Amino acid sequence: MKRINLIYNNVIYREKFDKLQVVEKNRVFCNHTLGHNMDVARLMYIKSLEDGIGLDKEIIYATALMHDIGRLEQYEKNVPHEEAGAKLCDIILPDCEFVEDEISEIKEAVKYHRKDADKNKSKLAELLRWADKNSRCCFECAAISECNWSFDKLNMEIEY
Ligand SMILES: [Fe+2]
Repeated sequence: MKRINLIYNNVIYREKFDKLQVVEKNRVFCNHTLGHNMDVARLMYIKSLEDGIGLDKEIIYATALMHDIGRLEQYEKNVPHEEAGAKLCDIILPDCEFVEDEISEIKEAVKYHRKDADKNKSKLAELLRWADKNSRCCFECAAISECNWSFDKLNMEIEY
């Protein structure tokens, strides 16, 4: 997956991602690590295959890698991370050989991944939201009693 590795090694992506790891080093709640991005990518891909959605693997992985990259700006400038991430799609993805239509699709999914179910959302955006939530092992989390997720959103057993 050449283009996915281009994202991961992109200078701007690395700068944002590496700083984010430092900022979140002592965070007790869910962190936004490479492991999280990979969990999201693989869950999206599994679900896409299981449900016969048939989304492109590179588009899925690119979306997963980009979806939380705006977190640093949320910490530093209080910009919602889905908006910061959508802007970063326009900056990073053209340098990683993604074309305009692909960038729009990924950007839209990143931008709407925190919004509740919406019939106008793309399959990619729905899949991202689903995988993002289902990637977390809440039943193992030491900070569960302080988490701001409502109880019905917590993952309390292994499903995926
Ligand atoms: Fe996430």
